[in-house]
Amino acid sequence: MKIFSGIQPTGDKHLGNYIGGFRQYAATQELGEAFFCIVDLHSITVEYDPRDLHDRTLDLFAMLIATGLDPDRSTVFAQSHVTAHAEASWLLSAVTSFGQLGRMTQFKDKAEKREFVSAGLFTYPVLMAGDILLYRTDRVPIGDDQRQHLELARDVAERFNARFGETFVVPEGIYPEVGARIMDLQEPTRKMSTTGGTEQGTVKLLEEPDVIRKKFRSAVTDSGREIRRGDDKPGVSNLVDILAVATQRTPGEIEVAYDGAGYGDLKRDVGEAVVELLAPVRQRYLELRADEPELLRLLSVGAEKARAASAPTLEAMYDRMGFVRLG
Ligand code: TYM
Repeated sequence: MKIFSGIQPTGDKHLGNYIGGFRQYAATQELGEAFFCIVDLHSITVEYDPRDLHDRTLDLFAMLIATGLDPDRSTVFAQSHVTAHAEASWLLSAVTSFGQLGRMTQFKDKAEKREFVSAGLFTYPVLMAGDILLYRTDRVPIGDDQRQHLELARDVAERFNARFGETFVVPEGIYPEVGARIMDLQEPTRKMSTTGGTEQGTVKLLEEPDVIRKKFRSAVTDSGREIRRGDDKPGVSNLVDILAVATQRTPGEIEVAYDGAGYGDLKRDVGEAVVELLAPVRQRYLELRADEPELLRLLSVGAEKARAASAPTLEAMYDRMGFVRLG
């Protein structure tokens, strides 16, 4: 079984990324041959600082290892080091529908907030489809917000296969059972995000423990007093889910354990559990990040492996699409 996922190097990584991303990567690498990609090419589709991109690519690489990826076992690499991604994106744009790209909610949300909307922001999901399809991926561990992009990748694969012959595996998503959409602590009707969320409601992975505790203490809860999940209780549901993930229990067990307790107890305990969960990650991250030559060495090993794995698929694409190949 082939596993592939990607994560952007821009924006501080937060608890939503941990639960929908990092945590799942470490678990799914056990399922087969796994590829994890720092999608630096995706990060230039919105305003960014070039110096930032450089540092954050290395930060993210260290974080992927700190959260449990084993670079000997899995292929961990940067997208821009494997030129097949940019090439596949162009080839696949021939079988991607303009109308479907325009219906992507992430594009509409992001485009709405900006004066300058890059063409790259629009074609972003084609690049993502290429990432996945190049490795003949069976399963893609992602959070709920990437569901629509994965659907598009599946449509693109099917259209290519129908038009040019069986080339791609049609991939399926793996979503966390709990926490597929972690919400902002201050505005629990929108997802936690460093670009679209509130500062106080977004828990960053490298934040000081006291800052994390404070963010949970001031989390917005709902009317009523009961600790239970429900559509009418987005704030409490979110906290229950986070506590469940952080303490490896089910949300149902949390509800039973907190029967009769107050919101204050819940908020304190979630904060503490998240601090405990992240403390070893932070420690390991700082050690890894201090050794930049070693990070660069590991990145080149990842790039080599990813180039070798993706080259035959890219070659098959060119060939089936009718391009003259030079042997
Ligand atoms: P990105 O970098 O925004 O997010 C990385 C992962 O974190 C998940 N995630 C969340 N999960 C739960 N709750 C949240 N609030 C939350 N916020 C983010 C995302 O679902 C994602 O799994 N387009 C992708 C990157 C990408 C990719 C790919 C992913 C590029 N190519 C190929 C998979 C396969 C993105 O921007 O993720």
